[in-house]
Amino acid sequence: MPIIAPSLLSADFLNLQKDCEMLNASEADWFHLDVMDGSFVPNISFGFPVIEPVCKATTKVCDVHLMILEPGKYAEAFQKAGANILTVHIEACPHLHRNLQQIKSLGMKAGVALNPHTPVDQLHDIIQDIDLVCLMSVNPGFGGQQFIPRTLDKIRALKQLITERGANTLIEIDGGVTLENAPSILQAGADVLVAGNTVFKSADPVATIAALKKL
Ligand code: DX5
Ligand code: ZN
Repeated sequence: MPIIAPSLLSADFLNLQKDCEMLNASEADWFHLDVMDGSFVPNISFGFPVIEPVCKATTKVCDVHLMILEPGKYAEAFQKAGANILTVHIEACPHLHRNLQQIKSLGMKAGVALNPHTPVDQLHDIIQDIDLVCLMSVNPGFGGQQFIPRTLDKIRALKQLITERGANTLIEIDGGVTLENAPSILQAGADVLVAGNTVFKSADPVATIAALKKL
């Protein structure tokens, strides 16, 4: 069964409590929280004043996706805000190994996100230190974009690397996931589906989460 991680970016920010309660009552496994700094990506989302109360309000795992430069500066603050998984972008981390050690030493699971153009080969010498690889299936920055089909090959290549190295790493797919393309994403080897628009813009988000969970 896949892990379902609805992305709060598509939630109703004037009614966040309602959406948190909806997710708590649903079959969602994780809350996916997208942090954007306006420098690493061409958009600004939200920070600690949103993350802290949301992490408090949820009974689920808080999966924080940092689309920011210099994530190491803020790792401790995200841990204090309630993050359980902290994911940094490989493109923003010249000292990735150090970032991962820091995240783990703070008691969180360590994730690494790859932009669509970044080959999975770059994880060759670090895969055993990673709890979660987030493959971006859109260019990060916005919800509601189209899934990039090439991601399916990247999932297969990553799965092979994980198996070869005997690593214990989850594969998360982020961007453009729908009920239509999710079966092929899972078949390629993904473990975690992030879904923003597919969940929050559907007529019945709880039923949509249940449908994703059943795939
Ligand atoms: C994009 C974010 C995603 C986004 C996904 O930069 O990382 O998590 O919210 O939204 P959808 O599922 O609508 O593509
Ligand atoms: Zn994300």
